[in-house]
Amino acid sequence: MRRRIIAGNWKMNMTKAEAKAFMLELLPLIKDAKCDTVLCVPFTDIHRVYKLALDSNVKVGAQNVAWADKGAFTGEISAEMLLEVGAEYVIIGHSERRAYFGETDESVNMRLKQALKTGLKPIVCVGETLEQREAGKTEEVLSQQIKKGLEGVTEEVIIAYEPVWAIGTGKTATPEMANETIGFIRKVAKELVGEVSILYGGSMNAANAQTLLDMPEIDGGLIGGASLKPNDFATIVNCH
Ligand code: 13P
Repeated sequence: MRRRIIAGNWKMNMTKAEAKAFMLELLPLIKDAKCDTVLCVPFTDIHRVYKLALDSNVKVGAQNVAWADKGAFTGEISAEMLLEVGAEYVIIGHSERRAYFGETDESVNMRLKQALKTGLKPIVCVGETLEQREAGKTEEVLSQQIKKGLEGVTEEVIIAYEPVWAIGTGKTATPEMANETIGFIRKVAKELVGEVSILYGGSMNAANAQTLLDMPEIDGGLIGGASLKPNDFATIVNCH
């Protein structure tokens, strides 16, 4: 099923006090939002943001989840722990986790299965590097990330297409390029899990969001930098 989802990824930003101030400013600005609005926040902010968002249309997500139920996995957080503090969504396989923390298609697949087993709604990230795009390997790379990442999965997932070269660089993919690539991802994903919502991520902001969201293949956005500014994030959420 395709839905309009606008998700913020705060990454490693926002102390408790900053998160509270952000929510108090954001909520009135998006009270009439028509899309599903999600904020994927640091573990330590989840409960606070969940509580502040209780009477609103905002749902809370985490940025990672362990593949095991519990046990000797130092530094990991389990699905049960996330659900307990109010998380409903979880980002899996973000390119920063792949680049800096050794995340692979195999570990993405294990985390994804755990999320689905426990009822967390996964947002699985895929995307090519500039080098891969310039070498004409975009489709090959994405196809492998999707097939391996979603191996053995039949449930509904949300996919975020985030070209690595567009993340935090101010270089957005052109709407046409994002549309075409997401169209390709849709074809590959359809054979595995059926119709899914596919978000675009990478320097999406208040100024370019509407043009991107107008494209027929783009169902929503996964927003980094602009999700830290209440006004900018609200503008994106309120796009039609
Ligand atoms: P920016 O919007 O800051 O480019 O980050 C995108 C992203 O990585 C969202 O997950």
